[in-house]
Amino acid sequence: MVFDVERILAGLTLEEKASLTSGSDFWHTQGVERAGVPAVMVTDGPHGLRKQAEDADHLGLGDSVPATCFPPAAALGSSWDPALLHRVGEALGRETRANDVAVLLGPGVNIKRTPLCGRNFEYVSEDPFVAGVLGTALVAGIQSQGVGTSLKHFAANNQETDRMRVSADVDERTLREIYLPAFEAIVKNAQPWTVMCSYNKVNGTYASQNHWLLTQVLRDEWAFEGLVVSDWGAVHDRVPALAAGLDLQMPAAGPRPDEEIVAAVRAGTLDEAVLDVAARRVLRLVERSLPAGGGSFDVDEHHALAREAAADGSVLLKNEPVDGTPLLPLSGDFLVVGEFARTPRYQGAGSSQVNPTRLDTALDALGDVPFEPGFTIAGGPAGDDEVLAAAAVAAARTAGTVVVFLGLPGPDESEGYDRPRLGLPDNQVALLEAVAAANPRVVVVLANGSAVSVPWRDRAAAILETWLGGQAGGSAVADLLHGRRTPSGKLTETIPHRLTDTPAFGNFPGEAGHVRYGEGILVGYRWYDARELDVAYPFGHGLSYTSFTYSDVSATVSGEGADATVDVRVTVTNTGDRAGAEVVQVYVRDPEAAVLRPVRELKGFTKVALEPGASQQVTVTLDSRALAYWHPGLHRWVVEGGAFVVEVGASSRDLRGAVTIDVPGEPTWGPLEAMSTVEEWLAHPVGGPLLQAAITPPAGVEIDETMQAMMLGFPARTLADFGLAGFDRAALDALVEQVTAQG
Ligand code: BGC
Repeated sequence: MVFDVERILAGLTLEEKASLTSGSDFWHTQGVERAGVPAVMVTDGPHGLRKQAEDADHLGLGDSVPATCFPPAAALGSSWDPALLHRVGEALGRETRANDVAVLLGPGVNIKRTPLCGRNFEYVSEDPFVAGVLGTALVAGIQSQGVGTSLKHFAANNQETDRMRVSADVDERTLREIYLPAFEAIVKNAQPWTVMCSYNKVNGTYASQNHWLLTQVLRDEWAFEGLVVSDWGAVHDRVPALAAGLDLQMPAAGPRPDEEIVAAVRAGTLDEAVLDVAARRVLRLVERSLPAGGGSFDVDEHHALAREAAADGSVLLKNEPVDGTPLLPLSGDFLVVGEFARTPRYQGAGSSQVNPTRLDTALDALGDVPFEPGFTIAGGPAGDDEVLAAAAVAAARTAGTVVVFLGLPGPDESEGYDRPRLGLPDNQVALLEAVAAANPRVVVVLANGSAVSVPWRDRAAAILETWLGGQAGGSAVADLLHGRRTPSGKLTETIPHRLTDTPAFGNFPGEAGHVRYGEGILVGYRWYDARELDVAYPFGHGLSYTSFTYSDVSATVSGEGADATVDVRVTVTNTGDRAGAEVVQVYVRDPEAAVLRPVRELKGFTKVALEPGASQQVTVTLDSRALAYWHPGLHRWVVEGGAFVVEVGASSRDLRGAVTIDVPGEPTWGPLEAMSTVEEWLAHPVGGPLLQAAITPPAGVEIDETMQAMMLGFPARTLADFGLAGFDRAALDALVEQVTAQG
């Protein structure tokens, strides 16, 4: 029988409609049996399915069904490869459908404001553009399988400290340019079935009750068609939340929320039409998920895909020659040191934790090689660090090369709290120092979900950052170390030297219930570039076993203002002796603007695979948003006309070519009033000439250059009051009227 949403909705009682807008348990919506409305199941997410038994605690792990644990977003994102994310999405979608789950709760695209956020491993980047492109691919891939996604956590959930209460105090321009665009791109380009609101407050109002966020921005501006679900337990006041645009409260919270809705409608304080909108959206979700269910997936195939993704999401930070040859790929005999080779760190803790279908370790995957654990890690086998290190050093003395597996212990990064430190634990650094003193041929393989400081980086000739690699991470590392695959990942987050260098330092994690985003739009590389700070490894950095040159950078502009587009072309050549892939990055700078603009911003990229010696011309098309800023006074995007510099590079600090383009802009002036400054008046096409004509300094008053410059900052009314311009308040008011009338 057809599931007719409108017919069903029309036949529901007030109580039944209210019941649709909250969960029946941890993972299901409420059905209405009488009306033929089944309950649907949603579950985590994001990088693997975590389908639990009905009575499980929601952060529990052991009892979820086995599912492929793909690399978390930190690694997936570092691939810069939308096609790969689409394929991973398809696989996630297949597993979701095969398990009769309607919605996979992910992906998360919050911006990495600080490397200390405990949940960064679940997020893509410090940059909204790359997060938006890759998130779109993942959502499209998952939803291509007939199941839904939940884009989370909307919005400004950039820390775990006090996440359920804290108010993220962020100015509008910063929200629009940094914290919202990834959500915006994914909503507009992939229409996720659901968006999950975050726990925190945004500028004093809980996201779950934030009408501006959930309705004005998400629906009215971005045309979101799906359903807004709360994060688990994020609703505090059901009726205002419903009115703000929160359709579905999860998980079940007993009869109270539904009763409050019913009472509010009866009392006339809530329009029943508002409830109808939310109930309709839940019914639509049910309708969409009806044909889902069933199908199967190939465990081996998905494992192989997880392996490919882990390899392509790893970033070769450094690969310097020792005795004339880079250490990677490995040649000759080598020793493996580090407990992580045997006890892998492959996913983060919290609601995203998957029960993997299998688990590869690097130690097994590397073949029959000598191994020394070197140090202990929390949760790993017991041991004495000094004894372990001494054994590792002794073995290192005679080894050809030493591959040292280091990383963050599991408890260091988790949902629910932030990281205690930026660096690796002392026992691991001490081990590395000792091994490097015994043998200069050291390769470090890192496993961590977010940037770690690397003050020890001179001790290793090669460093491979694998992030958290998912269940096949161990074999992926072996593929890279042995050269069966060539690294092609790039950093989507800067690796800073010190915590004190990081953008949010001093404004994180906030106090007394507020965290002030004082660094504004200068997040990630935007901060390091603006402050001219040296970093350990810059945003966009990543090496290969081959090398690439860039030539013939050019850019063509078409259209103007909001309709402008720019085609950026560059030829990339593989100049090495093996096949590889390069992530070509396009940055835009606006050297002169009425507002502060970052030194450069990523606005386009493409990944190109090339055989040795091969060349390819690539084109990256930028739309006007690549040039625009959010005008804080006009509350809209503005392309301010003039020169822009388009830079093309292999990282944000390895720019290989630049061209300057000239783009005709659009109006950047707002309505004039008496309190507008002389400068604002003069910049206005109608008001400028009028004011010019009206200014007649009284006889005897000489206005020299300094005075003129000072007066630009005066409100026109002050000028009138000072009697400096030859017009009074009344004359000025008449000017304002004239300008307003003429537009
Ligand atoms: C997390 C969400 C997750 C939900 C359900 C919350 O605590 O913040 O990301 O989807 O729980 O497990």
